[in-house]
Amino acid sequence: MSKAVWTKLEGLPKPTLKALFAADPARLDTFATHFEASDIEADCGMRFDWSKTHLDAAHVAAFEELAAAMDFDARRKALFDGEIVNTTEGRAAEHTAQRGVGKEASVELAAEFHHRMAAIVEAIHRGAMGEVKHLIHIGIGGSALGPALAIDALARDGAMVNVQVVSNIDGCALEAAFAKCDPATTMLAVASKTFTTIETMTNAESAIAWLRDNGVEDPYGRVVALTAAPDKAIEWGVDETRILPFSESVGGRYSLWSSIGFPVAMALGWPDFAEFLDGAAAMDAHFRDTDGLANLPLRAAFADQYYTRLRGCQTRGVFAYDERLKLLPDYLQQLEMESNGKSVKVDGSPVDGPSAPITWGGVGTDAQHAVFQLLHQGTNIVPVDFIAAIGPGDDLNPAHHRILLSNCFAQGAALMAGKASEDPARAYPGDRPSATILLDEVSPATFGALIAFHEHRTFANAVLMGINPFDQFGVELGKEIAKQIEQGDTAFDPSTEALLELAGIK
Ligand code: F6P
Repeated sequence: MSKAVWTKLEGLPKPTLKALFAADPARLDTFATHFEASDIEADCGMRFDWSKTHLDAAHVAAFEELAAAMDFDARRKALFDGEIVNTTEGRAAEHTAQRGVGKEASVELAAEFHHRMAAIVEAIHRGAMGEVKHLIHIGIGGSALGPALAIDALARDGAMVNVQVVSNIDGCALEAAFAKCDPATTMLAVASKTFTTIETMTNAESAIAWLRDNGVEDPYGRVVALTAAPDKAIEWGVDETRILPFSESVGGRYSLWSSIGFPVAMALGWPDFAEFLDGAAAMDAHFRDTDGLANLPLRAAFADQYYTRLRGCQTRGVFAYDERLKLLPDYLQQLEMESNGKSVKVDGSPVDGPSAPITWGGVGTDAQHAVFQLLHQGTNIVPVDFIAAIGPGDDLNPAHHRILLSNCFAQGAALMAGKASEDPARAYPGDRPSATILLDEVSPATFGALIAFHEHRTFANAVLMGINPFDQFGVELGKEIAKQIEQGDTAFDPSTEALLELAGIK
């Protein structure tokens, strides 16, 4: 059934962007939508403009058919109902329940965990752990990227506690954090869903040693553990009263909303963290209750599929024209590539087209002076998302923000319009797609809605491709081999053996 729809999609005419605008005076109204959350107090307004993509009425109708053929409604309902949607691991995927949207029992459990987390955050702010000026948050992947992004985005005006996020096993990362912290006023957050990840556990041991070597008598007393495996945290040495659990059904790269968000709440204060959850919940409700093209994450997924499968685009670019969101491409890389970079479908059969493109990007305007040459004149077509905010993050001369936004919008316009020239080196082909997400403000609620939008977009893409976005077996083999290398009794290929010998590991 879906094969027939793809055949139809492949056969549709593909007018240029200019032709699409010329043919449809209402194009902007159809493809650019202002998102507002009516049922929460905080403003989380933002504009989603997909008009500079090649979606048109015929493609949208066919993609809606594809969504029906791939059981989009049923798979979306299963997600929100807390059913086992992660079939290879036999788990639900209940990140929305963390925001209060989902199966009742799971929403209640998440609220209980949040209640406990809020109490601990507020107690620490009041001095329950003595003076805490610094927090070293140790985690990796989904246990680090979200906190790092959220704190960088939202706590620039001054954090209640100064947070250093450390992920890499390379000791340079931890040493850099130590250099910024005073051990007497530093606490640790050890964040690991499994509480077994070698990088995190090794870094945590070294941070404990650093505290001890610097005169802290009870270093484990300075630790809060954020985990879905509380028993392991207790075994490691954390007192039960300082363990903030979350459910096994919250995936690592979807876990910022759970206790993994502890450092965010420590930096911002609980009210802002609650607002962040509310913004995400508003996007959840939109995604759950809206059908077809009007559904913003689904609309984005239609365009994603168009470029990946119908235009053969192997990458997608994300450029944040806002210094506060400069870590967003890193975060989206894990979300999208770890979720949808797979070769088999839910039923174990091979995917019948390309799966996730490579997500890459950077911050504007820096990236303009580094990589945009390829976007404008390279032979690869890269669909680009621009993300910017109307409200500036700085208090300097308004010229800064005006020039920043002008450049952002200029890039989208230039990519689409192109420019003819008699000199081929100076010609721009144009007709290059982009989408723009323009936030009213980078506020906790807006930021929450923005991240939830990308989670749902990733899920919608997975459904259209027939993929399970919630497992990540592809990361296991490398971990196994690293363990074998540590154990020292396995022989590898000649190249690896030579490297190991040269580095003095074997
Ligand atoms: O190796 C991949 C991964 O499992 C990610 O999915 C996860 O976010 C990261 O490792 C960290 O895992 P944990 O939170 O269990 O330490």
